[in-house]
Amino acid sequence: MLNWRFIAVVAMVATDMVAATQAQSSRKPQSPVSLKDAYRNAFLIGVAINSPQIKGQDMGGDAIVERQFNSITPENVLKWEVVHPEPDVYNFDLSDQYVSFGEKRHMFVVGHCLVWHSQTPAWVFRDDKGDSLDRDALLKRMHDHIQTVVGRYKGRIQAWDVVNEALNENGTMRQSPWQKIIGDDYVEKAFQYAHEADPQAKLVYNDYNLENDQKRKGALVLITKLKAEGVPVDAVGLQGHDSMDWPSLEDEDTTIGAFASLGVKVIISELDIDLLPPATEHATADVSVHVEQDPKLNPYPKGLPESVQKELGKRYSDLFKVFLKHRGAVIRVTFWGLSDGDSWRNDWPVLGRTSYPLLFDRSDQPKLAFHAVLEAAGGKN
Ligand code: XIL
Repeated sequence: MLNWRFIAVVAMVATDMVAATQAQSSRKPQSPVSLKDAYRNAFLIGVAINSPQIKGQDMGGDAIVERQFNSITPENVLKWEVVHPEPDVYNFDLSDQYVSFGEKRHMFVVGHCLVWHSQTPAWVFRDDKGDSLDRDALLKRMHDHIQTVVGRYKGRIQAWDVVNEALNENGTMRQSPWQKIIGDDYVEKAFQYAHEADPQAKLVYNDYNLENDQKRKGALVLITKLKAEGVPVDAVGLQGHDSMDWPSLEDEDTTIGAFASLGVKVIISELDIDLLPPATEHATADVSVHVEQDPKLNPYPKGLPESVQKELGKRYSDLFKVFLKHRGAVIRVTFWGLSDGDSWRNDWPVLGRTSYPLLFDRSDQPKLAFHAVLEAAGGKN
């Protein structure tokens, strides 16, 4: 089988050599060639990396990560089910490699995520007999997990998504096992434990759909309460699993502004843009949602028409202009995956679709949207 990533790297190196030669002969200043350089004075540009990339089994992908991005997030390897699959078993094999990956390349290394209801084994909430734990026992379990995981990477992971997705769509607290057993204050406990384990780490509350009115209001109440209680929350992560028409640019703008006015930083933590037909009635990023396959939901199995590439580029460019407007408040924009082939959107919420949500295509070539994002930086940074 052809190794497209290898070919892509060779092609990239070749292009660079030609560019370098041209630059030398014409002595014209070069325009910014990487995302991280284009946005250097605005915010960090991150990417979520997967196991093959962490293990060095995708060298072409790794070269792009190194060249284009200055921050990484682990797509899965620091989630509870991977790092702590059984009560007395911690598995740090992949997460150690993940952290070294970032350190070697002098990147801003993010931890994702400590307390969530998904990708958390059922045993976490039960005792040896299979009965539900009580509040104190679950708090102890949460404390030990956070102490062990955050403590292991103290000073090496610079920011943690501490609590993921604590809110319902109407802004009330989600009745997750954490909330049901511990109560609403599980959120502040998680932040306190994380701060105790690494006082230098930046701590993030992360969620999706915060651009929607009701959910945003709930999040603003939550963050206001945490700040008033002196809970160490530094930033809000807007996941950013967007579509071509959601959220509106106005809602994105309002949302970033609203959190910034509370004195927390804002991160676009999991950016991708879905251009396939919507599979659910309302926009969601709930990983437990599954929708039946249907050819109508997969209109571009063989490639994306140029006109749609352009629309995607315009959408990315418009969103980045909003992020740039809030530079200083927005401190990082992280893409949820490197290339379209890597994206979770190919299998969620419908299995086996051909999705085009990112800036690099299935052969690791920069898409029109990549150039649109570079251009949106405007060379004024
Ligand atoms: C996704 C991963 O990308 C998939 O590989 C995994 O199967 C499910 O989770 N919100 C989050 C992320 O906070 O952790 C999710 O990542 C996407 C939605």
